[in-house]
Amino acid sequence: MANRLQGKVAAITGAGMGLGQAVATLFASEGAQVVVGEIKGEEGRETVSRIQTQGGEAILVEMDVRLGEDAERLTRAAVDKYGRLDILVNNVGVQINKDVVDTSEEEWDFVVDTNLKSMFLCSKYAVAQMRRQGGGNIICVSSLSGLVGNGLQASYNASKHGVIGLVRSMAVDHAVDNIRVNAVCPGSMNTPLTETIPEEKLAPYREANLMRRFAAPEEIAKAVLFLASDEASFVTGSVLVADGGYTTL
Ligand SMILES: NC(=O)c1ccc[n+]([C@@H]2O[C@H](COP(=O)([O-])OP(=O)(O)OC[C@H]3O[C@@H](n4cnc5c(N)ncnc54)[C@H](O)[C@@H]3O)[C@@H](O)[C@H]2O)c1
Repeated sequence: MANRLQGKVAAITGAGMGLGQAVATLFASEGAQVVVGEIKGEEGRETVSRIQTQGGEAILVEMDVRLGEDAERLTRAAVDKYGRLDILVNNVGVQINKDVVDTSEEEWDFVVDTNLKSMFLCSKYAVAQMRRQGGGNIICVSSLSGLVGNGLQASYNASKHGVIGLVRSMAVDHAVDNIRVNAVCPGSMNTPLTETIPEEKLAPYREANLMRRFAAPEEIAKAVLFLASDEASFVTGSVLVADGGYTTL
């Protein structure tokens, strides 16, 4: 353990698989007490069990990030179990690949509620707690799709751009509360989310970044760790792009 998060309590949403799981296990290995927020109980328990097997500390909150009462429960669980909440990683994201004509209202609401409203809700209760305890740290996972337009991603593009707006707004409002708020913009990663997309649609993304490959979630988790740690003590309102150079082209 390198102990960069020793004594910190961190809640991570969507930590049952993919990037969220990589962040949760990395944070635990750095000494954090971890609250896994996850809609799928089995996957969430798997992450908790991995952390405990490595000698770390974690609990599961089964939750749907789209619901206000669940968002409130996430912060409450951290405080009830560990006495505080220092770090919130708003990680959950879903994707529907359609243009505006083909996107139904239900699909729009599903993507925007899951990707953006959820980050408002989880932050709302976390910030209130962080303010009470004298400070904290929030990282929101956006995407390269929060920086540029991608074909057939109307709802996803809009939600991920919105995440960056929310991050900047919260950074301005809550610096006075000693709360840092930042965004991470990953490029394509090898996670269950991308495994559902046909190879012919993924290939152009692999070719379009300078590394000519997808990231491992563990590589992006290290960018999240930097923002969560005291090494980023003067970093707030920023957008850390970890996209293999996709958006430089
Ligand atoms: N995979 C990529 O290529 C990629 C690229 C850029 C950005 N991102 C972003 O990174 C983040 C993580 O992506 P991933 O690829 O690890 O996703 P994933 O689909 O592999 O994992 C997402 C996790 O969130 C959980 N989840 C889904 N809906 C939920 C809800 N309503 N409440 C609680 N939990 C819920 C899922 O059960 C799952 O465990 C997302 O915000 C995504 O948009 C991913």
